[in-house]
Amino acid sequence: MSGRLAASRRSRVEPFLAMDVMSAAADLEAAGRDIVHMEVGQPGAPAPRAVLEAARKALEGRLGYTEALGIRPLRERIARHYRDEYGVEVPASRIMVTTGSSGGFNLTFLGAFDAGARIAMAAPGYPAYRNILKALGLVPVEIPVGPRTRWVLTADEVERAHAEAPLAGVLVASPANPTGTMTLPEALRDLVETCARLGIRFISDEIYHGLVYEGRAETALAFGGEPIVVNSFSKYYCMTGWRVGWLVLPEDLVRPFERLSQSFYISVPELSQRAALAAFDGREELEAVKEGYRRNRAHLLERLPSLGFDEIVPVDGAFYVYASVARFTNDAHDFTRRMLHEAGVAATPGPDFDHARGHRYIRFSFAGTEAAIREGTDRLAAWLR
Ligand SMILES: Cc1ncc(COP(=O)(O)O)c(C=O)c1O
Repeated sequence: MSGRLAASRRSRVEPFLAMDVMSAAADLEAAGRDIVHMEVGQPGAPAPRAVLEAARKALEGRLGYTEALGIRPLRERIARHYRDEYGVEVPASRIMVTTGSSGGFNLTFLGAFDAGARIAMAAPGYPAYRNILKALGLVPVEIPVGPRTRWVLTADEVERAHAEAPLAGVLVASPANPTGTMTLPEALRDLVETCARLGIRFISDEIYHGLVYEGRAETALAFGGEPIVVNSFSKYYCMTGWRVGWLVLPEDLVRPFERLSQSFYISVPELSQRAALAAFDGREELEAVKEGYRRNRAHLLERLPSLGFDEIVPVDGAFYVYASVARFTNDAHDFTRRMLHEAGVAATPGPDFDHARGHRYIRFSFAGTEAAIREGTDRLAAWLR
């Protein structure tokens, strides 16, 4: 029986290795081991106090379905954020609340493209893009980036790829995962304008905005065109577990996305939406958390090269260090497995982000507490000795 009733072909996406490492670490923890978590981009700090307070208050009342686009006060508050932070006017009517940016990506790929559409992105890049696209019958087009362009995708590369075989979309994260590198504002403008000229939909993953250590990230909305902006409360706002994010949509996509969302999810959990409304008031605490990341970043940039990790990619933002392990191995997978089991340090192997070159790289997340990150490098030093 089980041979005949198999899982769908569309489900045959690759595993998200960072999540698999997290599971393997949880198995070891269940068996009593102590593990330092540097595998997932998950803040070690809790959500700001104002968020927790708003959640407590929300629990006193009734929690129900909300409008599929999200509760109006949250959409209005997000619109204000664009005014305050970037000086960009976006009406609340173009903002949609989603179940994390992950929910936003599902809706974006379904609502903006038809099956077979080709969507370009940088490799190395966030693995879920590729996996969601494949499951939905779209085609990820991975364009290798490297030191020549500071590990970011350029408008020239997009134009070249489009000339070879037409693209329907381009997806850029800045700061990026796993590299942490930022697409500078002028380069972002070039991308937005090139895509507009070529009739390609531009998708801007701005989930790491707020986590920039030098300079400032600009939103793709500042450059006209009709980009779709994807964002989330997960990272800067320390709310991974609340599963709440948002999209900024061109006017004509709002209703199609609303229709899809009504049937897929009904709505984002009201508790998380009410809590997220207070996230923008947690600025002081969040900036203090970010200062901790800044110290973790400095610590890793100093310590990892001395331990033998090479070719460290510029960490402009986010909370990742993507480093070569070529001095130790040609199999990052095996290296991270041994590192987890023998040193008790979890990190993510490069093939999660880059099929072609990832076997020589691993990614460390420094979103954990300072104590945890220092413990991690001490364990690595002892293990590598
Ligand atoms: C670049 C990028 N986009 C999107 C996500 C998904 O985040 P969430 O669904 O929690 O908003 C992540 C998570 O690591 C990420 O690194």
